[in-house]
Amino acid sequence: MSEAPLVEIRDATIFRGDTCVFDRFSLTIFQREPVAILGPNGSGKTTLLKLINREIYPVQREGSSVRILGRDQWNVWDLRSRLGIVSHDLQVRYDDRATGLDVVLSGFQSSIGVHGAVAGRITAEQRARASSILENLGAGELSRKQLASMSTGQQRRCLLGRALVHDPDTLILDEPTAGLDLAAAFDYLERIRRLSAAGKNIVLVCHSPGEIPPQIKRIVLLRAGCIMADGTKDRVLTEHNLYQTYGVGVRIAVVDGYYFAYPAVPDGRTEARLQPD
Ligand SMILES: Nc1ncnc2c1ncn2[C@@H]1O[C@H](COP(=O)(O)OP(=O)(O)OP(=O)(O)O)[C@@H](O)[C@H]1O
Ligand SMILES: [Mg+2]
Repeated sequence: MSEAPLVEIRDATIFRGDTCVFDRFSLTIFQREPVAILGPNGSGKTTLLKLINREIYPVQREGSSVRILGRDQWNVWDLRSRLGIVSHDLQVRYDDRATGLDVVLSGFQSSIGVHGAVAGRITAEQRARASSILENLGAGELSRKQLASMSTGQQRRCLLGRALVHDPDTLILDEPTAGLDLAAAFDYLERIRRLSAAGKNIVLVCHSPGEIPPQIKRIVLLRAGCIMADGTKDRVLTEHNLYQTYGVGVRIAVVDGYYFAYPAVPDGRTEARLQPD
């Protein structure tokens, strides 16, 4: 039997509050097919990740389905132990007093923090594993440090540790390099590259094409809940598609497999380029 896709969304309609973010939206992502999702603010990227993570559900309708790893129904705790998630959303939900080790340990229970009953369920083995993950991320010194006294990048490292604690097959990364300095962002990209080479499923949301490691070949461009383009980088990350998606003139330069976007200069030549094909 062939392997079930990581995500199979068919004709899904999704609301956030009163806003219809996706209307009859369909998308399939196969396993071991690392994918990057790009699109303007508010286009639905985070909503899509929350749908995969079962934080939100589509409107129930005949013919509409959201299947994760071949299943319509999941115990969310089982599902979340198979997904590693890094997002700003998650980062801001932590109590400032949580230590780096607390953040990593909370991954075992897919919880935010380790208080009360959750703290009681942590085993010595889990503590040892959490410590070694932090060490491997070059963040051993953050183990006893509180989030309040960490920089954004240090907090993000702890969250990556949290995501990796279960050794999940799938990593869901919502703007993982936002707010990181160059060294930290490069380090993150290298870790994503290695995790992808190790066969992990990667779903990466980011804003800048330059944040997509060359190993991620498939790109989905979203605009207002619609797929503007979906395919390989050379076909999707074109000046035309980016203009259509963002409504501004964009130039693209490709260096060593990385795609960089920069503003089109408003001269006669680029004016002509700004016209949709
Ligand atoms: N909790 C919420 N309640 C109501 N509407 C929401 C909520 N969260 C998001 N939305 C709306 O849903 C739409 C999609 O938001 P989403 O967060 O998925 O966008 P995004 O592509 O991740 O944007 P960004 O690049 O800014 O992170 C937006 O119109 C947003 O205003
Ligand atoms: Mg978002």
